[in-house]
Amino acid sequence: MKICIAYESKFGNGKGCMEYLQGVMSKKDHDVEMFSVREREPTSLPPADLYIFSSPTQIGSPARKMKKFLKKLEISQEGAKYALVATCLSSNPKANTLEKMEKLLQPKDISKITDGLMIKVKGIKGPLESGYKEKLDTFAEDILKSL
Ligand SMILES: Cc1cc2nc3c(=O)[nH]c(=O)nc-3n(C[C@H](O)[C@H](O)[C@H](O)COP(=O)(O)O)c2cc1C
Repeated sequence: MKICIAYESKFGNGKGCMEYLQGVMSKKDHDVEMFSVREREPTSLPPADLYIFSSPTQIGSPARKMKKFLKKLEISQEGAKYALVATCLSSNPKANTLEKMEKLLQPKDISKITDGLMIKVKGIKGPLESGYKEKLDTFAEDILKSL
């Protein structure tokens, strides 16, 4: 299975999560390509069965660079699926980052495979909450079961 991870990460916490997830999925023999949304054009992504998008919560929303990326996203592969990850400092119900990312993807030719995952950071620059690896393990299992 070809999996593509596109992330935005200001302080490296979200990036660390995606590196961990990439490791978990690669060990299960999936071909996982990972890049920052700063490095790639959203109109020329590699074909993949699954896309994972990961963003920090900033001012109650996905980071600006991720919003722009998702707005312009073009998916060429038929039947492609997606899953979302967001990091946040507090679980403020107004910070519905995942919902906002989902809304941006609604008009696209891509469908959600599983509920998104929210991971907390202990301070604005991190570190990640303890237990984040277990959350990502479960998330990876849920995704791979549904593929
Ligand atoms: C400008 C800015 C605004 C932020 N606003 C929020 C917010 O509204 N809610 C929240 O939970 N965290 C907020 N944070 C904390 C970020 O979510 C946190 O820095 C991020 O999840 C860390 O992940 P990263 O290292 O991948 O960037 C904000 C951080 C920055 C820099």
